[in-house]
Amino acid sequence: ADVKKIAVIAGDGIGPEVIAEAEKVLKKTEEVFGYRFETEHGLFGGIAIDQKGTPLPQDTLDMCKNSDAVLLGAVGGPKWDNNPKELRPETGLLGIRKALGLFSNIRPAVIFDCLKDASTLKPEVLEGTDLIVVRELTGGIYFGEKFRREGANGEEAVDTCVYNVQEVERIVRQAFEIAQTRSKRLASVDKANVLETSRLWRETVNRIAPDYPDVELEHVLVDNCAMQLLRRPSSFDVIVTENMFGDILSDEAAMLTGSIGMLSSASLGEGAFGLYEPVHGSAPDIAGQGIANPIATVLSVALMFRLTFGYHDAAEAIERAVKEVLDAGHRTGDIAVDKSKAIGTTAMGDLIVNAIRK
Ligand code: NAD
Ligand code: IPM
Ligand code: MN
Repeated sequence: ADVKKIAVIAGDGIGPEVIAEAEKVLKKTEEVFGYRFETEHGLFGGIAIDQKGTPLPQDTLDMCKNSDAVLLGAVGGPKWDNNPKELRPETGLLGIRKALGLFSNIRPAVIFDCLKDASTLKPEVLEGTDLIVVRELTGGIYFGEKFRREGANGEEAVDTCVYNVQEVERIVRQAFEIAQTRSKRLASVDKANVLETSRLWRETVNRIAPDYPDVELEHVLVDNCAMQLLRRPSSFDVIVTENMFGDILSDEAAMLTGSIGMLSSASLGEGAFGLYEPVHGSAPDIAGQGIANPIATVLSVALMFRLTFGYHDAAEAIERAVKEVLDAGHRTGDIAVDKSKAIGTTAMGDLIVNAIRK
């Protein structure tokens, strides 16, 4: 049979805890659907700094390049927070995205009906919310030149934000195409009233919009979008935006679903290859306690099946299993209303695995 190679990089904090549950899901789908996966593990992030002196060792990057998809946990933690840039776990994360050409980060925020009470927002506001943030991932202020200098009043720091037309066009076209497969509404989010990169962004969106006449386009300024996401979340379908705005808005969108522990993501380039990771970080405040919610990572596996492998049956089975377990009332602490009844990471993983069937 066709064996898919998956590079697994668990990282730091709760990364290994949630990845362990995702790997159980991989194994179960092999049994149920007959697919074949070969997993290889690599060091990445803070643990790689400790053991190899760099957050993204060359052998880890090579392993990812030689695989069909990458499954990533999370990186970072207080231990490395005061390190210089080259010795920061986050630098490894930016490096792997860039090195693999993953310019498009897809972050779906879907409300499970039974979790409406887990959100901090009123259930009637959340009704019908089903949106996707399409975040540009390899440009903008994250990747522009950064430096310190001596200014008139002492030390200064500079981060530059750069976008070229080609970078904007490829991500916006992808977002239009995704919108065409959904409710055909696209919100392009920028700060065109202030930023030159945003004006280029908006001009580019307007230039290519006629190629997608069936998609209803709105331009929303990012500050207003942050507000509208809480006021009328269900009116959004696809949101496309630059790197840093997408980072911030996707964490905000996560809270519509009840918890950041629910949000999955896919990072894609031009082909089928993709990197799949939860939107959340390494959660140092709960790491090692076995209480992290593994659902974001499990749902990232479903995204991998759908977007890279085309295993739609298995993707649906995973999503159905998650819904079934939540419908039955099982909750990790982050989504539990009654925290005294919360279950741990492995218990949640086991319940989902047991609910996966054809
Ligand atoms: P975080 O997402 O790690 O945590 C924010 C809050 O959400 C914490 O209270 C945490 O306990 C909670 N949380 C996150 N995931 C959870 C889960 N699965 N289940 C239950 N609760 C969960 O963000 P942070 O605290 O700002 O960052 C911590 C570290 O993670 C930093 O070093 C940061 O750079 C890094 N980070 C990494 C990634 C990544 O690897 N993709 C993403 C974001 C942050
Ligand atoms: C994310 C994270 C990363 C980002 C950090 C850890 C570099 O917040 O994946 O959302 O800002 O892209
Ligand atoms: Mn983030």
